[in-house]
Amino acid sequence: MDCDETIRGFPVVAAVYDRRFFLARSYKAGGHRPPLQCLLGFALCVAISAGCNRSPGRPSLDSQVVPPDKVLSFDNLYRQNCAGCHGPNGKGGAAIGLGSDVYLAIADDATIRRVAAEGVPGTAMPAFAQSSGGMLTDPQINAIVTGIRKRWTNGDSPDVSPPSYAAPDYGEPQRGLEVYDAYCSSCHGAAGRGGPRAGPIVDAAFLTLVSDQYLRTIVIAGRPEMGAPDWRGNLPGKAMSQQDVSDVVAWLSAQRPKAATPLHSNPESVTGEIR
Ligand code: HEC
Ligand code: HEC
Repeated sequence: MDCDETIRGFPVVAAVYDRRFFLARSYKAGGHRPPLQCLLGFALCVAISAGCNRSPGRPSLDSQVVPPDKVLSFDNLYRQNCAGCHGPNGKGGAAIGLGSDVYLAIADDATIRRVAAEGVPGTAMPAFAQSSGGMLTDPQINAIVTGIRKRWTNGDSPDVSPPSYAAPDYGEPQRGLEVYDAYCSSCHGAAGRGGPRAGPIVDAAFLTLVSDQYLRTIVIAGRPEMGAPDWRGNLPGKAMSQQDVSDVVAWLSAQRPKAATPLHSNPESVTGEIR
């Protein structure tokens, strides 16, 4: 029913109410006939609530609102659920950018899907799948994962192959300190306490809120938008080896306050590569 029909139908409704109810009742009770304005007001309310599609603020028929769990557009899903932390356009915000060439080269779809669905316990990364207590359906998670890959892959895969996403084995913290001195201290200062070109990275507040996998991801992919180099860029002409990456992450991980949750340092406590 559209607006005009509703309004056109109104006199009939008003007349029915007028005769059968209002007139009869008010006469019986010895009252007065209700003023016409009242009936007009009543009928207008009915008209507006019962289907006047052109009333203000109401979307027209052809732009009906899609229920939240039926939204499958990558742009909408990413903007509403991810951009607040990972930044618009895949470039990074408080959390790492998911659209960089190196990130997309090391993280496969299964990994991105698992993290998006289940989150990373003990960190600020929430679980989004309904099966893990989130708000998104599996098709929505899939739309995000395939969208990230499609939208932000630009064909520039890194010229040398990066260290693997998952740590192949445990790193050695002692050797990690040497790696740190060689590759990181020029910016982050002695022992990671902050230097002239970059801030501290051994903050308790930072280290207790991130997983070892995330530290590894940052060391490999960098944060290009913040001026943090990837694994090739710390020392001109000398890329980090797989072992260098594992060791420096082991050293960083060992700087967590002792009371911090064992989640991050005990690989047995978490399934998958995140530890
Ligand atoms: C050329 C300078 C430079 C070098 C070398 C460098 N970084 Fe950084 N790094 C930065 C900058 C800039 C940031 C952005 C934050 C800031 O300014 O402190 C950063 C940020 C980080 C962060 C925090 C990212 C976040 O999400 O907040 C970590 C962790 C980190 N670097 C680890 C390392 C490690 C480990 C190394 C050595 C393997 C290293 N960096 C080498 C410049 C550098
Ligand atoms: C409240 C902030 C927040 C929101 C919202 C958020 N993330 Fe995250 N995300 C994080 C943080 C923090 C991490 C690092 C977790 C860790 O320490 O392992 C992370 C990690 C990730 C990683 C793994 C990075 C790696 O190391 O490989 C992926 C993939 C990811 N997020 C995808 C998403 C997607 C997709 C969405 C939207 C559906 C999303 N995130 C929304 C904060 C957020």
